Amino acid sequence: MTSSASATDLGAATDAQRRTWTRGDFHEIARHNVVMAERLCPAVGLHAGERVLDVACGTGTAALVAARHYSEVTGIDFAPSLIDRAQLRAAAEGYDVTLRVADAQELPFEDDSFDVVLSIYGVQFAPDQPTAASELLRVCRPGGRIGLASPMPEGWSGDLFSTHARYAPPPPGVESPLRWGTEDGVQALLGHGVSWLRNEPRPALQYYRSVEHAVDVFSTWFGPTLSAMERIEPDRQGELLRDLAEVFRRYNRATDGTAVVENTYLETVAVVA
Ligand SMILES: C[S@@+](CC[C@H](N)C(=O)[O-])C[C@H]1O[C@@H](n2cnc3c(N)ncnc32)[C@H](O)[C@@H]1O
Repeated sequence: MTSSASATDLGAATDAQRRTWTRGDFHEIARHNVVMAERLCPAVGLHAGERVLDVACGTGTAALVAARHYSEVTGIDFAPSLIDRAQLRAAAEGYDVTLRVADAQELPFEDDSFDVVLSIYGVQFAPDQPTAASELLRVCRPGGRIGLASPMPEGWSGDLFSTHARYAPPPPGVESPLRWGTEDGVQALLGHGVSWLRNEPRPALQYYRSVEHAVDVFSTWFGPTLSAMERIEPDRQGELLRDLAEVFRRYNRATDGTAVVENTYLETVAVVA
């Protein structure tokens, strides 16, 4: 638990997070995370037959990539609507993936249940970071691997989340998810339970019709943007959308009027002690 937030505060922050991620439809955004999952599975050396857990799987981004490796996949997320969509996607592809509603801070699995534990922009949002980190370590067997793709303070993700926070500040005392996107943060959270750890910034490109289209996608489907819009006065909503357009513009590498937004994230691979 963080020193400045009580268990009650963390519980309330978790409930607020669940409401946030249930808004909109993260499936519309998740397409941008597939490239991270495609890299993360080989980065952790995922092999056929291994037991894999995708923590905060959303609509199944990493779970479905792992299933293509003929591994035994389980995905959990605390948003029931996203688990429903993940189930539809797994069925459409004909994969036998176990998908359950659960909280990353209280994983419903025995110790050492998995060979590989993955989380892409997922566990990082849990308000009780030390507990969430301990849960990753607990359910992964000794010698098993943890693979994370985390938003970094530098770059598009950090810019996006701090822009939201300027309009709709997070509850006091709750650590930023961007802590997982720093070497020191990862070391503090996982270092005590691992025998090997590597952090590597990686670029991932997101493709949109234009910067305006990117803002439209986020203001229509992205839970954190919708939550921030709801929390501010109507006259500030336009201001937030203009600031978001500036964020997308800053990382846009396209020169043909479309948008190719470069997002640098931190890829962490760790071996559990
Ligand atoms: C940015 S989305 C990423 C989803 C998915 N990992 C992907 O890459 O497409 C964040 C996800 O984390 C989930 N989440 C956040 N906090 C969680 C928690 N404490 N327990 C379980 N899921 C959580 C949200 O419901 C949401 O699906």
